[in-house]
Amino acid sequence: MSQESYGFREASEPDLPRLHRLEELCFGEEAYPLTYLAILMKLPGAFLVATHCGDVVAYVSAILRRRRVGHIVSICVDPAHRRRGLARELMLLAEERLARMGAAVYRLEVRTSNTAAIRLYASLGYRPVLFLPRYYPGGEPAVVMAKSSRVTLIEPAAE
Ligand SMILES: CC(C)(COP(=O)(O)OP(=O)(O)OC[C@H]1O[C@@H](n2cnc3c(N)ncnc32)[C@H](O)[C@@H]1OP(=O)(O)O)[C@@H](O)C(=O)NCCC(=O)NCCS
Repeated sequence: MSQESYGFREASEPDLPRLHRLEELCFGEEAYPLTYLAILMKLPGAFLVATHCGDVVAYVSAILRRRRVGHIVSICVDPAHRRRGLARELMLLAEERLARMGAAVYRLEVRTSNTAAIRLYASLGYRPVLFLPRYYPGGEPAVVMAKSSRVTLIEPAAE
């Protein structure tokens, strides 16, 4: 991570318009609608954001499914703040949070053409486990990538 000062925190409802603008900036017409982001926001801790000078410049959304599966729903970084380690840091923070909730595995879907994201996930230890043809609108396939949670959930015994 560069020396520029970034902060990390959970998002809350007032962040929704900025999260949606970021989505549009990163995904264009395929951005999640504000209504979907608002539904996710109701789940505690579903969004973690990176801030710079008080502005939200990146976010990750991650939720626990079926008690054991940590699902990375979306991650995006403002183009002006890319390649500074923000996505990597947000992914690690999201994994830590999901592990505390009981995740045994983390999973995500990514476009087969999204080299930047695939490299990011691979560098964090995610491996391709499934190919989903025509997963995205427009027909592009997705690759499902997954990684085991290695965080120990056993608290040390009290003295
Ligand atoms: C993919 C994305 C989240 C990466 O964010 P970022 O903050 O720039 O990523 P980081 O700086 O944490 O990069 C970590 C590693 O990921 C890989 N990586 C990130 N961007 C890359 C790029 N454009 N090309 C190749 N590798 C890349 C590199 O291995 C990088 O490590 P390095 O900088 O030491 O080489 C960002 O490009 C983005 O928001 N893209 C649009 C939205 C998107 O595609 N989200 C994923 C949907 S599944």
